[in-house]
Amino acid sequence: MLKTPDVLLLFCLVGAAEALYKQWVPDTNYENKTNWDKGAVPCGSDRVQFPAQRKVSVFVETTHGVREMRLPVDGEFILNSRAGFYVVSGQDPSCGTGVTAQFKDPTSLQWFDPALWQAAATLNDLQNGNFLFSVHEESVPCQYDDVVFKALSSFSVDTSSSQSSIPVKSVSVLGKMFDSKSEFSQYLSSRSGQLQFHGSSAVTVENQGCGDPSGCECGNSENNQRICSTVTCESVSCKKPLLPAGHCCKVCGAIMTIKYATGFNLQTYRERIRHLFLTLPQYKSIQLGMSKVLKSQWLMEIIPFGTTSEIQVVILDQEKGTQAEALASDILKDVRSHGTTIGIVEAEFQASSGSSSNQSGINVGTVVGALFGVLIIITVIVVMVVLIRKGIVQMPKLHLMPSMSTTKKNNDFDLGGPLDHGFDNPIFDKPHMLPDIPGLHENGTDNSVYITKTGVHFVNPVYDDKETDFNA
Ligand SMILES: *[C@@H]1O[C@H](CO)[C@@H](O)[C@H](O)[C@H]1NC(C)=O
Ligand SMILES: *[C@@H]1O[C@H](CO)[C@@H](O)[C@H](O)[C@H]1NC(C)=O
Repeated sequence: MLKTPDVLLLFCLVGAAEALYKQWVPDTNYENKTNWDKGAVPCGSDRVQFPAQRKVSVFVETTHGVREMRLPVDGEFILNSRAGFYVVSGQDPSCGTGVTAQFKDPTSLQWFDPALWQAAATLNDLQNGNFLFSVHEESVPCQYDDVVFKALSSFSVDTSSSQSSIPVKSVSVLGKMFDSKSEFSQYLSSRSGQLQFHGSSAVTVENQGCGDPSGCECGNSENNQRICSTVTCESVSCKKPLLPAGHCCKVCGAIMTIKYATGFNLQTYRERIRHLFLTLPQYKSIQLGMSKVLKSQWLMEIIPFGTTSEIQVVILDQEKGTQAEALASDILKDVRSHGTTIGIVEAEFQASSGSSSNQSGINVGTVVGALFGVLIIITVIVVMVVLIRKGIVQMPKLHLMPSMSTTKKNNDFDLGGPLDHGFDNPIFDKPHMLPDIPGLHENGTDNSVYITKTGVHFVNPVYDDKETDFNA
C-alpha cells in the first residue's frame, strides 16, 4: 500500500501534467527586425524614433550604435547585462547612409488572438519547438494553463475582455514565474507591468491547475466571439466541412469523439498518439489537437438534458482531409484493440469526405442499447399512465395531500375529519359537482377532462377521488 506522502506526490505529478504551456509569440525587443518599420534593426548611421505617445517596454539585448534617438514620453528600456547605446558621430561604414527607423506600435496585439500563442506540453517542448495544435479557443491560454512570456524579451498585450479578470495558473515574465495571486498583481501595478499589460481585464494567477487526469475544459467559450473576431477563415474545398467544438472555422479532416472512463489520462493518451502515429512519415503534415469538451446531451435529438464531457480529437491535414481520415481509422483500430486498458469506453469519428466510423463495433452497440433502454422506459411510463387513468391499475394511497395545503393543520392526516384545502382547487372544492365517473368509464370516453358549469376541470389520476376519501 502507498503511504500518504507517496499518494500526494503521485496526485501532484498527475495534476501538474494536465496543464499546457502557452507562450506569447510577439515581442517588443529592439533586436527583432519585425518591430521596425523598415524591417531591419537600426544601425550606426540611422536615426531611431519612438513616437512620443507610444507607451512601450523595449528589451535591449546587446549594444547598439545610433546617430540620434527620440524617446517616447512614457516608456522603458529593459537592458540586458552589457546592453546599451552609443552615439555614432558621422557615418558607420557598415551601415550606409542611414535612414530614419521607427519602432512599430505593438499595443494593438490582443491576448485573445489565437495566432499569437504557441502551445506545448512541457517547457522543454516549448524551447525545442514541439508545439501542439489546438482549436482556436484553446490556443489562447486556458484557465489551468501556464502562461509564458519569453525570458529575454519584453512585450505588449491588450487584455481587454468582457470579464473583469482572465484567470490562469501561472505567468512567467522575463524569466520569473509568478504563481501567487498577490505577487503577480503587485507586478501588474509596477512600471513594467503597466507597460506590458494593458486593457480592461486583469490577468490573475489564481488557479491551482487541473487536478483531473482526464483533462479539464479550457473555459474560453465565454470569449468565443472575441477570439473568433481575430480569425480569418480560409475557404475549404471538401465535401462536408466540419466545425470542431471551440474552433472558429470549418475544416477539412476528421473529428473523433472519445468517451472515457476512470483511468483515462489525457496527457498519456496524447503521448501515445504522438508516438504511435504522428511520427510515421505518411502523417507528417497532420495537425492533431486533443482536448476535453462539453457536449450537450439530447434525448431523441430534441430534448436537451444536460451536458457531458468527452474528448475531442481534431485531425487536419493539407490534403483535403484524406490523410486525416486515414489516421482517424488507425486511431479507431487502436481503440478497438486497446481501449479498455487505456480507459476508453467508445470512440467514433466524422470525416469531411462525408464518411464516418463504421456502424458496428463497440460504440454503436452501446448507443443502440441505450436508445432501446430509453424507448422501453418511455413505453412503460406511457402504458402505466394509460392504465392508471382507465382505473385498471390503482395507485397505492399517497399521503401527499396535506403538504399541498397552504394553511397547516396538524390533523391533516386524519382524512376522516373536515379537510382544509387551503386554496381554491376546483378538483377538491365542490365535490358535489364531480360527475359520475364510473358511468363514463363504461362508455369508454376519456374521463380526464370534463366541463361543468364552473369551468374546466380535470382529474389527476394520482389523486383519484375513488381512492382518497375527499368526497366524504
Ligand atoms: C520577432 O517577432 C516576430 C513577430 O512578433 C516573432 O514571430 C519572432 O519569433 C520574433 N523573433 C525572435 C528572434 O524572437
Ligand atoms: C468499415 O467496414 C468496411 C467493410 O466492413 C471496411 O472495409 C472499412 O475499412 C471499415 N472502415 C472503418 C473506418 O473501420
